[in-house]
Amino acid sequence: MKHLVTALVFTLGLGAASASAENIDKRQTLVITEAQREHVLEEMRSLLSGIQNILAALARDDMAAVAQYARPLGMGMKAKSEDHLKGALPKEFMQLGMSVHSDFDRIAAAAESSKDPKHTLRQLGETMNKCVSCHASYQIRAESRTLGVKDGAQHHKH
Ligand code: HEC
Repeated sequence: MKHLVTALVFTLGLGAASASAENIDKRQTLVITEAQREHVLEEMRSLLSGIQNILAALARDDMAAVAQYARPLGMGMKAKSEDHLKGALPKEFMQLGMSVHSDFDRIAAAAESSKDPKHTLRQLGETMNKCVSCHASYQIRAESRTLGVKDGAQHHKH
């Protein structure tokens, strides 16, 4: 049964390239400008590399470094991106993003005050649920590119 499903997905993938890909991907598509998309993805990559630095610091029990890496991911980062996005993304999306940023301020503060690596790990685990749930719900496409894909994929007219 599992093989059958895999074969089906594979066949669909080869057969109707981008049209079927859109159907298989159930995430809500947010369309913004290329510059805005690049800005969001850059912020995402900073979140990932910040977390990597935090984990490495935790492994060394270096709580000062934990705070130092967590702080730039806090609300200060958020304030900068508001400028670029200017209401281009839905409210729920922005609120989830905002709560991630405020979590990192809290992670930085707790690292400085309680200096308990286990506590930081728990906080990180909870915050990362938000990364997971947002990624399960949304994808982002740039305006021009979305049009380009559609034009290229649909040669026939109805
Ligand atoms: C409010 C929603 C939201 C939250 C919260 C969120 N992300 Fe994302 N992230 C996205 C979206 C949307 C994309 C683009 C997905 C797509 O278009 O396929 C993305 C993409 C990424 C990428 C890929 C970047 C690239 O260059 O392609 C990384 C890495 C990433 N996120 C890391 C994280 C981490 C780590 C967290 C949590 C600390 C996080 N994100 C929280 C929405 C979110």
